[in-house]
Amino acid sequence: MTHAIAYRAAILHSLADPAKVGLDASYAYYEDGVLVVADGHVRDIGPAEAVLARQPAGLEVIRFENKLITSGFIDTHIHFPQTEMIASYGEQLLDWLNNYTFPEERKFVDTAHAARVATLFLDELLRNGTTTAMVFGTVHKASVDAFFTESDKRNMRMIAGKVMMDRHAPDYLLDTPESGYADSKALIERWHNKGRQLYAVTPRFAPTSTAEQLSAAGRLLAEYDDVYMQTHLSENKQEIEWVKSLFPERKGYLDVYDHFGLLGERSVFAHAVHLEQEECERMGESDSVISFCPTSNLFLGSGLFDLPRMEEHQVRVGLGTDVGGGTSFSMLQTIAEAYKIQQLQQHKLHPLKALYLATLGGARSLRLEDKVGNLAVGKEADFLVLDLHATPLMQARMNNAHNLFEQLFVLMMLGDDRAIAQTYIYGECRYRRDH
Ligand code: GUN
Ligand code: ZN
Repeated sequence: MTHAIAYRAAILHSLADPAKVGLDASYAYYEDGVLVVADGHVRDIGPAEAVLARQPAGLEVIRFENKLITSGFIDTHIHFPQTEMIASYGEQLLDWLNNYTFPEERKFVDTAHAARVATLFLDELLRNGTTTAMVFGTVHKASVDAFFTESDKRNMRMIAGKVMMDRHAPDYLLDTPESGYADSKALIERWHNKGRQLYAVTPRFAPTSTAEQLSAAGRLLAEYDDVYMQTHLSENKQEIEWVKSLFPERKGYLDVYDHFGLLGERSVFAHAVHLEQEECERMGESDSVISFCPTSNLFLGSGLFDLPRMEEHQVRVGLGTDVGGGTSFSMLQTIAEAYKIQQLQQHKLHPLKALYLATLGGARSLRLEDKVGNLAVGKEADFLVLDLHATPLMQARMNNAHNLFEQLFVLMMLGDDRAIAQTYIYGECRYRRDH
């Protein structure tokens, strides 16, 4: 057993969905708190005096002055191969894919390129306080080997998969139903549940897979009951019309995935901005998950995601950056845009709800709530040390904030990677801003 370390600072973490239990019961806050970590797990947490009193003598205590400890952020939708094409000008989804995305993803035929970008990507996640993500690779099997190799080195809890795509993209990016199935299967066998790595079967979206390939994806899910599925759904109106024309025999976009057995509690659909009533019901009934990607929905002009509507249907929702359609790796910036999208629809996104979505709600969306998402005793110790005074403006505004919720809200509106002082993975410090 490794020796325990106690971290002393203000501590805030999410305990439950405010929509279910109300705001007051949804979090725990210790103004002077202690988090005890041993063997990569949370061993104790609570008010400093009480926690320290029940620890063995000689426990090492690390104190952070004027900092806030919280659990690591969880990004439920992101593309690692799109790291170096973030901020590409001028197009909505389908032209953006053809003009920018596909040529960029072509580069991942080169394994050395994939390894370099995986490194850059994971370092960027760490500097933004994201400790778990659900990640797209490219169609190239080796891109996902490169990703998991780097992620495993850092011991980060990651879910990723090889894109399956056998039509409506350039030849250089296509697989086949057979090779997509075989390559995915080999990656599952190699990586799923290896250390903290988990696999997601990854058909890109309905337009780029034939019925044969979607059927092969369904077969993989049937063969491995704890493997994930990730794809895109109803992001853009032209895209939806295209899907309807490609699958006229289906009731709509979601029904295409449903038909091939791709819905379920480990299935994460990015965007879902333009769902029909019946599709909302089916999402809830099948316990499928939505990744809400605010910066991407705004950047690509896709539309406004209606969060309360999905909650009415009991659909689990997580937050996603969707880099490179999204414009920031920062979950704080992602929350800020989520807030504005709800404002445009006369909904309020409370900072405690936003905290839930970025942490425990993300974990629940990925069925990882027994492992990560907050700092409850027994969870894996992925946590952040936040600096609420990271910039002169934040400092001035914080001094003018009157309670925790106002401070949290200011952090979410003004904060970004500069507010992440340290990132801990499985009890190890993997990023320090001052280094
Ligand atoms: N739909 C299909 N592929 C993609 C992608 O790479 N990004 C986004 N935002 N939507 C998609
Ligand atoms: Zn995406």
